[in-house]
Amino acid sequence: MSEEASIAADAGALLEEGLRNLWYPIAPSWQVGENPLGVTRLGERIVVWRDRDGAVHALEDRCPHRGARLSLGWNLGDRLACWYHGVEIDPSGTVLDVPAVESCPLTGKAAVRRYPCREVRGAIFAWFGDALHAEPAALDLPEQLTDERFATMLCVAVWRCNYRYAIDNVMDPMHGAYLHARSHSMASGNRRARLRVVPTDTGFLCEKEDQRNVNFDWVEFGASGGHWMRLEIPYGKEAGPGGPFGIVGFVTPVDRETCQVFFWRVRAVAGWQRDLWRFLYRMRLESLHWDVLEQDRLVLEAMAGDARESEFLYQHDTGLARVRRFLAKEAERQATALAGDAAPAATGTATATDRGRRPDSEARTADGPQLAPRKERFHPRPNGELEFNPWLAEPRGSKGDAGTVEDFAEPLLYRWQHRARAPNDFETSLADALTATFAAEVHDRPGIVARLNESDVANPGGGPWTEDAFGSALRELASP
Ligand code: FES
Ligand SMILES: [Fe+2]
Repeated sequence: MSEEASIAADAGALLEEGLRNLWYPIAPSWQVGENPLGVTRLGERIVVWRDRDGAVHALEDRCPHRGARLSLGWNLGDRLACWYHGVEIDPSGTVLDVPAVESCPLTGKAAVRRYPCREVRGAIFAWFGDALHAEPAALDLPEQLTDERFATMLCVAVWRCNYRYAIDNVMDPMHGAYLHARSHSMASGNRRARLRVVPTDTGFLCEKEDQRNVNFDWVEFGASGGHWMRLEIPYGKEAGPGGPFGIVGFVTPVDRETCQVFFWRVRAVAGWQRDLWRFLYRMRLESLHWDVLEQDRLVLEAMAGDARESEFLYQHDTGLARVRRFLAKEAERQATALAGDAAPAATGTATATDRGRRPDSEARTADGPQLAPRKERFHPRPNGELEFNPWLAEPRGSKGDAGTVEDFAEPLLYRWQHRARAPNDFETSLADALTATFAAEVHDRPGIVARLNESDVANPGGGPWTEDAFGSALRELASP
């Protein structure tokens, strides 16, 4: 193969599996408790775990002894121990102990690849550097994820399509007026539009020329250490307090056929209004939002895997066409840099060849299968004793624990895991009263309390509603 052809093939593989040298969200925070969690992201198996101080670490999910998945092993608080023969690995990927033999040359070796990671607004981000970029670049997130003015709620789902279909979908505002025509937020506005692309500091904006604040009318793509998208959907006056309803989205490839989408639902709202917004969102809007996402997922998953190869793009596809060109160029740049680098790849760092080698049999094992509930709280030691290990978690299955990928791909189950229970009568009637209050354009706290006292929603503390009683009820109801 000529060098040119080989670079083109590597760039193609990068595009298919996910560009490197970027931060990607790899799991929602709630999914990583005390047990190590095994995930596949960008075709690579990764174990994500928390040390006893709660800090998150991510390592290649492969024991350097014989390759067992470390995610099946033990979290010892400051290290992982492989379940198979007990080899212990620290957060940097260095082997701390090989307990089954007296002395082993593996001890002290940096034998497992480490993924630098950090936690932002309920998600764990990891750096996927190539052989030339082991050290992470800065991650400049949109202000919606960094500025305290914004309240965020994260929604995560696994979609069984290549990640590029999910990006195309968000970069295509026109689908709002059709695919989501029967939804709570995108039923109105023009069904025909011209779209234009406007450059920004970190990427570009794709917007309808003649319509704003009516439907899904604009979307922005940004590349600033990670690839993100942001958009706004207008919400009616009954949707509670706060400015426009924003969405910040990331798409993380799982493998060639599957991706994980992260959508932060965002509103600039603070104090008691933030509690109120969170409560109303959970009660009224979250399930509607899931209905919209399900429409996207259904269409994308039903498309043929090679649909992109025989398309007829037209004017309103300008945004997704632009992002495709950007990603293709970036893939070519990365493949060219790797090909030009004579130095051997660092230990444990994926090379272009490694990336092309992932067997298809892995395709459906992302995130799992996880272990069945495990009751042992003892870590086996070489002297035959069992060392009590209070760090080890309760059996899986309680709220917040990971399920299999099938579980995770099922939005209803995800919702159930997240909310844990259905709303009770009090919550339902309070949400009804508040929705009606906002629809009547009453936005101030005394006005809301006065209307509550006129309604038949009783103050759970007894007596008339006061602003304090309203505040504490809301705080309690809005807490995650
Ligand atoms: S495979 Fe992990 S200790 Fe043997
Ligand atoms: Fe959509």
